[in-house]
Amino acid sequence: MIREDVPRHIAIIMDGNGRWAKRQGKPRLAGHKAGVAAVREAIGACVELEVDYLTIYSFSSENWSRPRDEVRGIMSLFVEVLAKEVRELNEQNVRVQIIGDMSAVPVKTRRAFNDCCASTAQNTGLTLVVALNYGGRGDIVAAVRRCMEDSVSGNMKPASLNQEAFAARLSTAGIPDPDLLIRTSGEQRLSNFLLWEAAYAELYFTDELWPDFSRESLLQALVEYQGRSRRYGGV
Ligand code: IPE
Ligand code: IPE
Ligand code: MG
Repeated sequence: MIREDVPRHIAIIMDGNGRWAKRQGKPRLAGHKAGVAAVREAIGACVELEVDYLTIYSFSSENWSRPRDEVRGIMSLFVEVLAKEVRELNEQNVRVQIIGDMSAVPVKTRRAFNDCCASTAQNTGLTLVVALNYGGRGDIVAAVRRCMEDSVSGNMKPASLNQEAFAARLSTAGIPDPDLLIRTSGEQRLSNFLLWEAAYAELYFTDELWPDFSRESLLQALVEYQGRSRRYGGV
């Protein structure tokens, strides 16, 4: 792995917690709990490698369709983990940012995230972007709505709409596009993650389940990334 060619932005679809738990004969929530340690490890590696942005898909806008107990368990897990980890995040100079529709998130979870974002807002190292109740299509539609509102209110002429003006209205505004998009658990799909932003991301799929994804696994993904030729449509 070449330290000079580390991606600026890594995005991860952390998948396979449920299957991990099933293999251990445990309830699905045990898999989500085990996944927290893998998140911690990924953050630590990104801090060490001086990656600028790490985006983690932690709950999709489609995940509400899961059994009520699992959803509740995940929402409480966020509260528990954030309270426990905020000190360490500050020590690591990590700034936490959220993308997704927070208005539909239970109030305790929303508050925990808002507190964590506020407490880490001044940090200047890694930006950890947590995708929560996030869906790429929903985010694109929300951006279209903002464009229309700005047009109606006279703040934007339709002719001035271009890719930059559009991207500035996505929840990822100001965040560079991901260079490397990792998905664990053997599935090879985007599941509504960063549809606009991942246009030129290098995709990396591994069979490892998220709770098993270690620092070594991340380094392996980086080695593969560094062997890719990014052409952006050129030669
Ligand atoms: C990913 O693991 C975590 C979330 C979607 C919240 P899953 O819970 O999807 O695990 P599998 O895919 O069922 O194994
Ligand atoms: C994607 O995983 C969402 C997250 C990792 C948060 P899913 O497990 O929800 O995706 P599908 O259902 O397999 O496409
Ligand atoms: Mg899954």
